[in-house]
Amino acid sequence: METNAVIIPVASGKGGVGKSLLTANLSIALAQAGHTTIAIDLDLGGSNLHYFLGVPNRFPGVGDFLKARRGELTDFLVPTSIPNLKFIPGDGKMSFMANIAYAQKMKLLRRIKDLSADYILLDLGAGSSYNTLDFFGLGKHGITVTTPEYPAIISMLGFLKSYLIRTIEKSLVKNRPVSRLLKELITKPIESQIPSIKELKNKLTTEEPEVKKLISKISKEFRPRIVFNRGTGPDDSKTASKISGSLRNVLNIEGDYFGFIFNDPVVNESVLNQTPLLTGYPNSIAAESITRIAGRIIKYWDKPVPNSSKLIFQHVQRSVNRV
Ligand SMILES: Nc1ncnc2c1ncn2[C@@H]1O[C@H](COP(=O)(O)OP(=O)(O)OP(=O)(O)O)[C@@H](O)[C@H]1O
Ligand SMILES: [Mg+2]
Repeated sequence: METNAVIIPVASGKGGVGKSLLTANLSIALAQAGHTTIAIDLDLGGSNLHYFLGVPNRFPGVGDFLKARRGELTDFLVPTSIPNLKFIPGDGKMSFMANIAYAQKMKLLRRIKDLSADYILLDLGAGSSYNTLDFFGLGKHGITVTTPEYPAIISMLGFLKSYLIRTIEKSLVKNRPVSRLLKELITKPIESQIPSIKELKNKLTTEEPEVKKLISKISKEFRPRIVFNRGTGPDDSKTASKISGSLRNVLNIEGDYFGFIFNDPVVNESVLNQTPLLTGYPNSIAAESITRIAGRIIKYWDKPVPNSSKLIFQHVQRSVNRV
């Protein structure tokens, strides 16, 4: 039976921007708020979510589930020291699991959808591999993390664009001529730029008005939740409003800004001590920012957040004044 859980995948374009930190501590905050939560390490080939949860790396996980080809994903649930929070490790103890076969991936996707919990959080690998894009598609929305630097933002926009193209591609499989045209458009030679989603829509729909409707529906329903990490002040949060322009003009989508996490040296300390940030350093500024994001998830996950970039800007200004 399919889960009623809210599935929240956490992705980014660039690596090392704080996905695992956020996934671990959001899971803790949601569990602490009384919601049954499962955190799954789906960064196959680079699993390290256990560090951020303070769980030793000695339990089998997704890698073993896929390799064994029998048993249930629920057999791999590991209890944590936090009530209401369970964890499924990745493939920290084996190699080459980043290259899972299509059938294995489909089985894993189905089993994740069968898990029973209020929230299921997925820590994904960086970048836009098909596996990562399909894991991201498990959630109705998803979180994308970026630091305020330009390369991280550009990579995040690249990830969102790949995800949209993948979703459009999947919904067009039955329409052979259009899906062939889509393939031609997105696999143009490197020197010619991949078209924006708007251009793609125009090119694809000259012949088929139905396709236009479909792409508009996909763009309308998908509202990524964007989290800025390692920020230092209000100037960083101003970037949020600039990103809105790119989302709208290039990708034809709207995003909701779900939070801003300060750069905080305590984060590194918590990782070195293998103590989760939220339990070991609950009053740190980074922990406070993440608890706030969990509150937004509980309140707003399924609703658009009006003026979210302005709200974050105001929150950052207040926090900076306090520091
Ligand atoms: N807000 C922060 N303040 C200080 N350090 C941070 C912060 N967020 C993350 N870091 C540090 O940055 C590093 C990368 O974080 P993390 O592993 O969560 O990123 P990631 O996006 O999961 O990386 P990968 O793509 O490799 O999986 C870690 O060493 C972490 O301690
Ligand atoms: Mg990670």
